[in-house]
Amino acid sequence: MKDLSGEIRALKQERGAVILAHNYQQPAVQELADYVGDSLALARYAARAGAPVIVLAGVRFMAESAAILAPEKTVLLPDPEAGCPLADAVDAVSLRRARDAHPGAAVVCYVNSSAEVKAESDVCCTSGNAVRVVGSLPERRVLFVPDRNLAGYVARFTDKEIVAWEGSCPVHARVRREEVEQARRRYPGALVMVHPECPPEVTAAADFVGSTEAMLRFARKAEAADFVVGTEAGLLHRLERENPGKTFHLLSPTLVCPDMKRTTPEKIARCLRQLAPRVRVPEAVGRRARQALERMLELG
Ligand code: 13P
Ligand code: SF4
Repeated sequence: MKDLSGEIRALKQERGAVILAHNYQQPAVQELADYVGDSLALARYAARAGAPVIVLAGVRFMAESAAILAPEKTVLLPDPEAGCPLADAVDAVSLRRARDAHPGAAVVCYVNSSAEVKAESDVCCTSGNAVRVVGSLPERRVLFVPDRNLAGYVARFTDKEIVAWEGSCPVHARVRREEVEQARRRYPGALVMVHPECPPEVTAAADFVGSTEAMLRFARKAEAADFVVGTEAGLLHRLERENPGKTFHLLSPTLVCPDMKRTTPEKIARCLRQLAPRVRVPEAVGRRARQALERMLELG
């Protein structure tokens, strides 16, 4: 395959662009990025990025968050079809209806959601800060959209009443408890880390539950040398690179997100050449969605 790194470096300079990549991107894309992180870190980076052009190597909701937080910048999504089925599980009209059915409840939306859904929400959260965000709310009742597994995980750490939406991530929701048990037999002594989008019986059987960035911190600090990773396969690249001498096993071969894998070095080069496809959020939606995102970021 043609090495595009030289051309991409030159294009980045010419355009004044930075490449932000999610931890699930394929290794060749992560290697091209100026910054690689989880959803929370990417949102924080986009909010303060100095560059006029942001290439978001991830999925649409991540590029939308960057466009909402930095409306003056050009935000490019290398593959316009890179979506997220979890984000598609809720739309603004159904959320408004649910909100009316639960008067007085705070609406918390996971960042894996559209700009329109964020605009209908009081505050956003990511898997990295969901417990903290819900805990900071004065309301006793919380309508949590769209991930029921993350909602259930948060409910374990709060005495608030959580009304969970019925969405789930097709990649994480199909992990089974038996796969954790098999991995423990196969890799005795290994620590099992899983994402809170996994089903409750899987998170209950794990040694650590957290966002992709939290897993990286856990693996760095833990004394164990062997880990089982219950999240999308792309995270193994950073885990291995940042922890020489430690071994990481993917919990299940099904942990591959086809949307995250749509981005390639070729598509990044093309979007930098053409300054397209650009992600734009209508001003009125963006203003309201920004309040929900900024309220989350203010919590640190
Ligand atoms: P993180 O917030 O942990 O980066 O996860 C994003 C995501 O899409 C999980 O499937
Ligand atoms: Fe969406 Fe799941 Fe893919 Fe994350 S892993 S982008 S939640 S489909």
